[in-house]
Amino acid sequence: MEELEELKSELKKLNAEYAKIREVPVEKRGEFGRELNAKKTAILEKMRQAEESALDVAVVPLDISAPCNVNEALPELYSTLQGSAHPLMTELDRVVSIYQMMGFDVMESRQLDDEFHMFDSLNFAKEHPARDGYDTFRTEEGLIPPAHTSTMQHRVLKAYRDKLVRGEEIAVVVPGRVYRNEDVDATHEHTFYQCEGVYVSRDCNMGQMLGILREFFEKYYEQKLNIRTQPGYFPFTEPSLEFLIEKPKMLGGKKGDYLEMLGCGMIHPNVLKMAGIDPTTYHGFAWGGGIDRLVMLRYGLKDVRNFESGNLNFLKEF
Ligand code: DAH
Repeated sequence: MEELEELKSELKKLNAEYAKIREVPVEKRGEFGRELNAKKTAILEKMRQAEESALDVAVVPLDISAPCNVNEALPELYSTLQGSAHPLMTELDRVVSIYQMMGFDVMESRQLDDEFHMFDSLNFAKEHPARDGYDTFRTEEGLIPPAHTSTMQHRVLKAYRDKLVRGEEIAVVVPGRVYRNEDVDATHEHTFYQCEGVYVSRDCNMGQMLGILREFFEKYYEQKLNIRTQPGYFPFTEPSLEFLIEKPKMLGGKKGDYLEMLGCGMIHPNVLKMAGIDPTTYHGFAWGGGIDRLVMLRYGLKDVRNFESGNLNFLKEF
């Protein structure tokens, strides 16, 4: 910068020289002018170079194509803070990819929904006490952070119903985050994850549903499992079942130790009808279950609260 200032004052002095041309005898003015011009060109060139090198210092050239690993570039800052995928996300991916291998499409759930999708479209009668069973949160505007992924069933049926006309089946799973106004303890969280399954075709039946579910759980736990069902009640299925698996020995289970993993059943005709699907021609089954419980069993975790706690000691174990 200093050099640039010096050059500027040199240039100023030189410009003043030009005024003296009148004092120079006429025959020497040409030579005088050429000399001044040459000096001026030299000074201007030096100024350009000085400006360029000043810029070089100010702007560190950035090579956006250079490979960069932040953890390597700034080890003191980042090496101990390297993040990782949350275990529930990793497991949710595994769950979804097992269903994908079985031919299911995926539609993600949402985090805010309305009374219609959460209840009406699922055949919950108005004022029916079953609505209370879902311990729903509500916003001041009356919207609902969904309490189950079934809130997506109506959308799935509508989005895919053209497949039925083409002679294909609807086969979709819906992973999503759900919310319930529950007292939190080691086995209950206000925020957790579910995965819903919806299947519709001309001639599907409950046996196929149980086959799909068994296949899913055996793939997820990587072993053969004993399964069992017991009657359940959901307004959107008829009949409704609860699906249980015998807790695997290697996961600390004893014989006859059955765990309820999800709710399921044949989709109620009213649910199909509301989505514009003729229940006299098409039939469907659906299921929905918690992901947190699935993962806790797989890893022998005792406290569901760890998942949403942000507890780094817990998260670092995965
Ligand atoms: N949504 C139910 C719950 O959260 C679970 C469920 C039961 C989903 C039956 C279904 C179903 O799709 O058919 O308790």
